[in-house]
Amino acid sequence: MYSNKDWVKDLVIYQVYPRSFQDSDGDGIGDIPGIISRLDYLKELGINAVWLSPVYRSPNDDNGYDISGYKEINPEFGTMQDWERLCDECHKRGMKVIMDLVVNHSSDEHPWFMESRTSKDNPKSDYYIWRDPKNGKEPNNWASVFGGSAWEYVPERGQYYYHLFSKKQPDLNWDNPELREEIYSMMKWWAEKGLDGFRVDAISYLDKPQDFPDSKLPPNPDGYSFSSDIVPGRPDTHAYIHEMNEKVFSPYNMVTVGEVIADETEELCRYVASEREEFDMAIPFVAPVIEINTWSPKKLREDISASYSALQQNGWWARFFSNHDKPRQVSLYGNDKEYREVSAKMLAIFLHSLPGTPFVYQGEEIGMTNMYFESIDDYDDLDAKNTYNMQILSGATPEEALKEAQMLSRDNARTPMQWSATENAGFTTGKPWLGINPNYSEINAENQINDPHSVFSTYKTLIALRKNCKAISRGSMEIADSVSENLFIIKRSYGNEILLAVCNFSDENISVDSGIIPDSYELLVSSYDREGNINLTNLRPYEAALLRIK
Ligand code: GLC
Repeated sequence: MYSNKDWVKDLVIYQVYPRSFQDSDGDGIGDIPGIISRLDYLKELGINAVWLSPVYRSPNDDNGYDISGYKEINPEFGTMQDWERLCDECHKRGMKVIMDLVVNHSSDEHPWFMESRTSKDNPKSDYYIWRDPKNGKEPNNWASVFGGSAWEYVPERGQYYYHLFSKKQPDLNWDNPELREEIYSMMKWWAEKGLDGFRVDAISYLDKPQDFPDSKLPPNPDGYSFSSDIVPGRPDTHAYIHEMNEKVFSPYNMVTVGEVIADETEELCRYVASEREEFDMAIPFVAPVIEINTWSPKKLREDISASYSALQQNGWWARFFSNHDKPRQVSLYGNDKEYREVSAKMLAIFLHSLPGTPFVYQGEEIGMTNMYFESIDDYDDLDAKNTYNMQILSGATPEEALKEAQMLSRDNARTPMQWSATENAGFTTGKPWLGINPNYSEINAENQINDPHSVFSTYKTLIALRKNCKAISRGSMEIADSVSENLFIIKRSYGNEILLAVCNFSDENISVDSGIIPDSYELLVSSYDREGNINLTNLRPYEAALLRIK
């Protein structure tokens, strides 16, 4: 049976991207001792769970999302003793520790794959997905997410292996019960060490149809087609997640977050409806390109309403605007120029007023912005390089291709954390692995911690508020009709407590019908707190306020 997971509803989860958080030894790469040295900062912010992007052994083709040793720490991040100390130090501060679990694929440098590739009859032969050539070519027309075919030929076996992501990320064969048992035993090993939860990467792809039919989707500029019409969310994928839950998540009472593909609410429910015993909550992955082109407050309203009505009886929501795969939220949904501070606060007020568990991605709490590198060579992200190449193949000029990569690149969110105005933003004493945003002299944590009107202080207030306010952590939600698509009025109620969040998602003033704002209220947070006044009947650009109704 599913254990009592009510505690999950009280979490505020902070995502650390370890490479870029804090370097402790001057090699320009963030590490675990660096994270430990910043735990008091996270305590001050008020969060009670830390999600670490992968710190396992990895050749870093996809920055750790290609694992070559599931029970090892990548030496550039430190040692297993460092991880144990991190876990203890988090627990001492009342913080849960969540690790990324990347088991749709491993690295091609994992010992399983190195053995699997040698012949058709070695003990690990069936740990990956191997197929014979078809007419001397790839078994089908499927594209890899990072460009080119999803199949790579290995002469020793005379066969192709399947890789949804880069060719250094071969997909594991979940059809093989022995492989599944190895994975579950590795997960239990971490749970025994004190780990509290997993964020499970790219989980919708576990099961593939064994006959690998061609995709019917139009080809990409390089001639291959995505398999998204065929693979995500097949019934056996759900069966495997359920099994994972039964064998590991439930017995160890873990908090679990699935990174899923779910365009339809029904599919989202399959992952998180409590009676299905899969995940506690899900991060629906929508490729940044889709979101950037289709994002609008109207779409946001529709998505929130649909997932709220679907999950309010028996599910839960992961609330986030940012992670290591997306541009910076203030640059994408707000305004990273003249309204940077107010729009960063508005987005915080909005997100933390919704039902569900809020996620804070490192640097979001100080309003960090996108970084536009001037040459494609300055980018590290293989996705950004692929975006660039696809643009060139479609006939774009190098300038146009660079512009597209600048807007979409995952490196926007991966530049080092801006701690202070000192050299290298206080991130490292060495040469940072990825360029630091030059705006660090203005936007940095040190500037904000003691400023009661900073973006940091707004997050701190919102996080503290949730601890004593059931209307936020458990209340029901209504989204009121409003005069403008850019205006959100969200009502949260629990017993007699009623809260109202009013958020202007635009850089224009919006007049609000005075009937909507009650006469008597307590102001809890405002995005214009620096100005010291609020104007709820004529909201200024990105003005937002959270009110307790009296
Ligand atoms: C997930 C991760 C992303 C990674 C991919 C392959 O989407 O969030 O960073 O590149 O999976 O593991």
